[in-house]
Amino acid sequence: MNILAIESSCDETAAAVVSGDPKNLDETLKLESNVVVSQIDIFKAYGGVIPEVAARSHLEAILPVVKKALKDADKTWDDIDAIAVTHTPGLLGSLLIGTLTARTLAILHNKPLYAVHHLKSHIYANWLTNDSLPEFPLIALVISGGHTQIIKMNQHNHFDIIGTTRDDAVGECFDKVAKILGLPYPGGPAIAEKAKQGDPKKYHFPHPKLTSAPRDKNQPDNPSLDFSFSGLKTAVLRTAQEIANVPISTPSGELKNLLADGQKADLAASFQKTAIDILLEKLGQALTENPDVKSIVIAGGVSANQALRKKAIQEFGEDRVFFPEPKFSGDNAAMVGASALYEIKSGVEPTDPYSLNILPRSVIS
Ligand SMILES: Nc1ncnc2c1ncn2[C@@H]1O[C@H](COP(=O)(O)OP(=O)(O)OP(=O)(O)O)[C@@H](O)[C@H]1O
Ligand SMILES: [Mg+2]
Repeated sequence: MNILAIESSCDETAAAVVSGDPKNLDETLKLESNVVVSQIDIFKAYGGVIPEVAARSHLEAILPVVKKALKDADKTWDDIDAIAVTHTPGLLGSLLIGTLTARTLAILHNKPLYAVHHLKSHIYANWLTNDSLPEFPLIALVISGGHTQIIKMNQHNHFDIIGTTRDDAVGECFDKVAKILGLPYPGGPAIAEKAKQGDPKKYHFPHPKLTSAPRDKNQPDNPSLDFSFSGLKTAVLRTAQEIANVPISTPSGELKNLLADGQKADLAASFQKTAIDILLEKLGQALTENPDVKSIVIAGGVSANQALRKKAIQEFGEDRVFFPEPKFSGDNAAMVGASALYEIKSGVEPTDPYSLNILPRSVIS
């Protein structure tokens, strides 16, 4: 079965062709093509994504990207058995371009349409190209620009969120700290690079301990597995102001000109160490509470971080921890195709292209 997959939830316009026999996916899943057009160069100038600009860029890129994915895979529409598209969560305008394109192509070429959740796709990036595959039950740590979640999966396409962030996502925190230090967007890779020159033990930032139940009833009810990253971002800001010897009323945008290069490197290294420690402590706790878990799957843009990979392998063992190939950590359509194929394997029915609902939801359901 050949799936044409489309992803446009944030600032990457992507299409891919993924093939596999849904009855025997663990052995047959194959990536035929993978095209990603990133808008990073546009948003570097602004230091972050502007939703309206992102949507317009998707509109320009999407049809050429789909065409190239088919060409690279050496497939025509006759070879494609189904279309998969990210329907939520993400920026509404960006999602609309991808979903409207997929719906139109599904109607035009008379193909079944699968609407895929973006975070499921991040998890399924781990089934794309790895030699060995994770075993169930597993715990997935999804760490991206918009989400930080610990999810238990007892089987394919079964997701139980057991921990989530109460405020900022960890990727968002990398991006905001990078901005304070005057590093380019996206902040994650820039912080990781700067941290190489710094001392990770120079500054001590707090590890939040959540003890009260979440206010939102839809959130998991084990507060100790929840995350909070907004305090870490503020702690870095206050430390930067202290080092620069300026009052706390000093705007964060001014600090980059007041800090020496070595101070920025120490702040980046200490922040990165704290963020990784917080993530892995909670992951360790989730494993203690779920002793039946066989594999750990780490997914989402922040999973590209090499220091995190190294420490996770040290703590949990190389055989037990899985990461996507770094190029599949961030947004791409190959992971959407893989996710759709495992949905089909699990018996999920296609969506009606005339009534696809893309209202954003922040939980996997
Ligand atoms: N090497 C790295 N170290 C730390 N963070 C990184 C690294 N590379 C990328 N990131 C971060 O990953 C995030 C982007 O990941 P991703 O594309 O999965 O997020 P998103 O799609 O915007 O959000 P979501 O998937 O929650 O909808 C950014 O915050 C970026 O800074
Ligand atoms: Mg993403």
